[in-house]
Parts: sequence; C-alpha cells; structure tokens
Amino acid sequence: MHTPIPRTNSSRPSPTNLTRLGNPLCTQAYQRLVTKRYFSFEMRAYWFDNLPGDQRMPHDSGRAIDTKRLEQLGVIYYNIPDTTRVDQLASERGYKNRDEIVISPESMAEKYEEKIKMFFREHLHEDEEIRYIRDGRGYFDVRSRDDEWVRIQVDKNDLLILPAGIYHRFTTDNSNYIKAMRLFKDEPKWTPLNRSAALDINSYRQLYIQQYLSDKAAKVSSNI
Ligand SMILES: [Fe+2]
Repeated sequence: MHTPIPRTNSSRPSPTNLTRLGNPLCTQAYQRLVTKRYFSFEMRAYWFDNLPGDQRMPHDSGRAIDTKRLEQLGVIYYNIPDTTRVDQLASERGYKNRDEIVISPESMAEKYEEKIKMFFREHLHEDEEIRYIRDGRGYFDVRSRDDEWVRIQVDKNDLLILPAGIYHRFTTDNSNYIKAMRLFKDEPKWTPLNRSAALDINSYRQLYIQQYLSDKAAKVSSNI
C-alpha cells in the first residue's frame, strides 16, 4: 500500500525567469518548487523488484519512492486533468510540437511484442522525453543514483518529463494498451541510445550526471 501524496491547492508558480533553468543548481530548486505544488495524490513510484517475469507485471517490491527522490533524479511528474494546462506547460518549456501514439496489439499488429521489447531496452535520449497519458497504463523505469531501477506507474492525465541523459526504459502493463501524447521541441532527438560503456561518456549523459548524480548535485539537493 502506498501512502497517498496530498494534493495542494496552490496555483502553479509562474517561471518568470526561465533563463535560470540553464543553471543546474537553479534547475533543481525550480523543479522542487513546481513538483511540490503539482504532485498528484495518485502518483505511484517504487523500487523495481528485479524478479524474473514479464516486464508488464507490476514488479512492485513494496518499497515506495517519494517525490523528493524523483526530483533528485530530475524526473518531473504532473497530473493534469485539464488539457489547457498542458498547453501552458508546453509554452513555458518550449514544446512546440506534439503527436499521439497508441501502443497496443490492435494498433501495432504483429509488431507489438517486438516494439515493447525495444522500448524496454535501457537507453537514453539527448533531449527530454515528455509523455502525457491520455488513456491506459504503462511503466517508466528510471535508474536511481545507485543505478537501481525505480518504477513509475503512469495513468490517464499523468504527464512525465524525463531529463536528457537519464537511463530509462518503458513498458505497457498487462492490459497491453496505452495512448500517449508526445511533446517535443523543434528538433526532437528521438533516437534511443542503448546503454553501453561508450555511451557513459556521451556529453548529454555527462551533463545529466553533473546536474543530478554528482556529489555536488546531491549536496545542493539536500540543502534545498
Ligand atoms: Fe525513451
């Protein structure tokens, strides 16, 4: 049983100075501010159990992850029932384009099983990955600071932003259906780069480590 996270009644803080987002220290402070006000009580994240079995099963170890731990990894979570708020967020963060994808055996036919295996390969992107869930359910797994898997369940109206450079993977759940809006900037870099020793020195990975995983980042985060 996961402890519900109380929703606050605060209105969304306006990021009046977006230039500070370029500063890794300010980025954490800003994200902590917005996620504190916007985390939904429905948010569910936990340590992956690492047990064998179909990737689509919950794999819930029973150990919940709190919002602070996700924030420290640079993961931003919102629950947005009102799509006009998505437009506002897109405007604030410079997401100029969007499309919609349905992942299911019906929409992908014989390619479905192959596709979900591909999505579940550990990878990173050189840009943010933003998904606004319109229907169905899925799981995003992200690597913790100690390189353990954290599983984040996403359902309708959840919007998840994964920072560039974070190792992650995705799967549908055992209902085999999810519909999601993908948001992106002018020149999306969708290419999944599968984890390897060579990729560890990728500049986007290095920047992510500096911003979120380094000792310096951890120290700043603990002082926020
Ligand atoms: Fe991805």
